Amino acid sequence: MMAGETFYSQNLGRPYLRQAISDYLSALHGRTIAPERIAATGSGMSGLQIANQLVLSPGDRVVAVTPLWPNISEVPLILGAKVDRVSLSIVDGRWTLDVARLLEALTPDTRMVIINSPNNPTGWMIDDESIKEILAHCRKYGIWVLADEVYERLAYDPAVASAPSFMRHYQDGDRVISVNSFSKAWSMTGWRIGWMVIPEALAQDATKLVEYNFSCIFEPTQRAATKAIREGEAEVAAMRAKLGRTRKLLVEGSRP
Ligand SMILES: Cc1ncc(COP(=O)(O)O)c(C=O)c1O
Repeated sequence: MMAGETFYSQNLGRPYLRQAISDYLSALHGRTIAPERIAATGSGMSGLQIANQLVLSPGDRVVAVTPLWPNISEVPLILGAKVDRVSLSIVDGRWTLDVARLLEALTPDTRMVIINSPNNPTGWMIDDESIKEILAHCRKYGIWVLADEVYERLAYDPAVASAPSFMRHYQDGDRVISVNSFSKAWSMTGWRIGWMVIPEALAQDATKLVEYNFSCIFEPTQRAATKAIREGEAEVAAMRAKLGRTRKLLVEGSRP
């Protein structure tokens, strides 16, 4: 702020931030995710709003995997789309997605499927095989995938850096949007900043929609987010370890 970075910035985020997110995601998922695909957003929530605005028209059919944090399925409703739900089930005490049932619901007239994994509120995590099956099906029918991946770092197996992600498996041309946030792995809830990974072809439309939603992110917030994502890995690791210990305690303590 003292350096005078208190004016409008750029709608999709400053290049230094988009590059930092691109470097982070590329390292995390083992493939290049170019800065041109990154759109910084005024929060994970506004990423969800803009992703829906990019894809949906009134009357479109959306399928959501539920249970789901209610904000996620309200957005398409606000935009006049209709939302059908495919529920997870509990198999052997674990939340489970019946992929065949989901694919059956993803008919050719479906515009978009919404999947939040790791999931709020259940903690369910999708697996890599299911991601591949869903992507192949959506590719065939031109269905958009909206993946809310804000909790991807909150996987507690120390052997993995993140939960399975659509970012590992999309192919160029796939209709996939991943929404992410600085609120979770970096605990920056009040700073209000997140990002989307979008197909590059959507960047111009995203620029316009950001203009009409929040116009740009406060620059000191972009600086802080860049610092967090470039230098915060030790903090993220410490938080994951702490939450992992808490989870273990809870799970063991709740066994009969
Ligand atoms: C699944 C999920 N997605 C997105 C968000 C949005 O987070 P924020 O708007 O703070 O980035 C939340 C917040 O709780 C969430 O639980």
